Amino acid sequence: MEARVTAHRDYAVARIDDRLYSGFLEHLGRAIYTGIHEPGHPTADAQGFRRDVADLVRALRMPYVRYPGGNFVSAYNWEDGIGPRDQRPTRLDLAWHTSESNQVGIHEFMDWCDLVGTKPMLALNLGSRGLDEARNFVEYVNGPTGAYWGDLRRRNGRAEPWDCRLWCLGNEMDGPWQIGQKTSTEYGRLASEVGKALRAFDKGLELVVCGSSNPKMPTYPEWERVVLEHTYETVDYLSLHMYSQNKARNTAGYLALSETLDRYIGTIQSVINVVKANKRSKHDVHICFDEWNVWYHSHEQDQAILKGMHGWPHAPRLLEDIYNFEDVLQVGLTLNAFIRRSDVVRIACIAQIVNVIAPIMTEPGGPAWRQTTYWPFLLASLYGRGTALQLAVRVPTYDCDVADDVPYLDIAGVHDEDARTVTFFAVNRHPTDQLSTAISLQGFGPARVIDHQVMTHPDLRAVNAIDAPDRIAPRPGPGAGLEDGTLHLALPPHSWSMLRVA
Ligand code: AHR
Repeated sequence: MEARVTAHRDYAVARIDDRLYSGFLEHLGRAIYTGIHEPGHPTADAQGFRRDVADLVRALRMPYVRYPGGNFVSAYNWEDGIGPRDQRPTRLDLAWHTSESNQVGIHEFMDWCDLVGTKPMLALNLGSRGLDEARNFVEYVNGPTGAYWGDLRRRNGRAEPWDCRLWCLGNEMDGPWQIGQKTSTEYGRLASEVGKALRAFDKGLELVVCGSSNPKMPTYPEWERVVLEHTYETVDYLSLHMYSQNKARNTAGYLALSETLDRYIGTIQSVINVVKANKRSKHDVHICFDEWNVWYHSHEQDQAILKGMHGWPHAPRLLEDIYNFEDVLQVGLTLNAFIRRSDVVRIACIAQIVNVIAPIMTEPGGPAWRQTTYWPFLLASLYGRGTALQLAVRVPTYDCDVADDVPYLDIAGVHDEDARTVTFFAVNRHPTDQLSTAISLQGFGPARVIDHQVMTHPDLRAVNAIDAPDRIAPRPGPGAGLEDGTLHLALPPHSWSMLRVA
């Protein structure tokens, strides 16, 4: 099977916001405790942070990490996580039916951000709490000393404000599972007033308002329209979430889910445009896709804990999806979709980072290891920065239950003007056929291939494990032929590839 792609230097989608490669860390399962934090672990630093985990996270170069939830945030009292650790209360976490020791709170998280070279994106509890707690938390984090909250922060060991710029106004407020779920009107009003208060404190903050939890929600996309009618001028981003699953073991359909994602982004872009027009506004709102990933492998095994059959365990194994090779393709497809829609999607957070639906896994007292999905994220984060190219693609397509006309080749191109490189990320969705792909490079000047990495495996269900951490990993590819400005490369069936030219 053959594919033809044209990449022209002047046909650009947008400058990719580096924040497309951000992450998400929730107080959930073993994400925090025995994930990033494990005093007594052989690699732990003085604060108890695992250095082996920090090294793996740092390598991903995540510009921002969203924290502390997720569903957890909607019943979280941020004040429980400050002050002397031995005086912090243990609370029941209603979202995940576990206990929260509060040994990690805002001070520890901010230190961890410094350790791994990222910045915080903090979520406010607009479920069980409201405007006053939100403004107090923002003032505790960003406010000056000489007033109550800044002085309390100083007494707790930090005089200098952290100056966190990015704030989420709640989490998944449309979801029946959410503590303090609201109607779109209730939430829109609350988010508008909280946003107003935060802007009275600092008008330069960047605010994210909740959109739909997924495109199957009964309130989608009217939720977005109503919420934006209330908040349009106050917020900068609309948050979307989506998790992919393949319970039916239908690979063709699973690999078509990025088409659903693309439609989801397009629909919400239209809603944003309608509200903008209704308001005769000059202000822009963009999409912050602050939870995305594959999530289904662990659903069954989590039921007992979520139903309370184990009481209120602290940091149990929850949402510990073990990712397979097929999920590499899914993660690659999602990242490609974000690159192609980088004019609209400015921030995206892989959910999550460690142990909980995560690219990095740990054993208590033992090693940290990379899941299969670590790799497409890593390489996209390292080399998917610059300008997204508007590629012209001609390739045969297939129909399936999820979508019609799904192209066998899914490809994104990124031009890094500073490094003078062009990078292509390509997924061959075909189960049996190699794709002979010709990429015509136009306007870039002379080129040579500088890197070619391929991920493929005969078994879609193959996984990495603690004793086989690199079973699924990128391997150097044979490169590509270059003839009259056209690259010729072969994409193996069911494969993810990265090709870089300079
Ligand atoms: O990431 C896991 C959960 O997924 C988050 O807590 C919630 O926001 C979403 O439903």
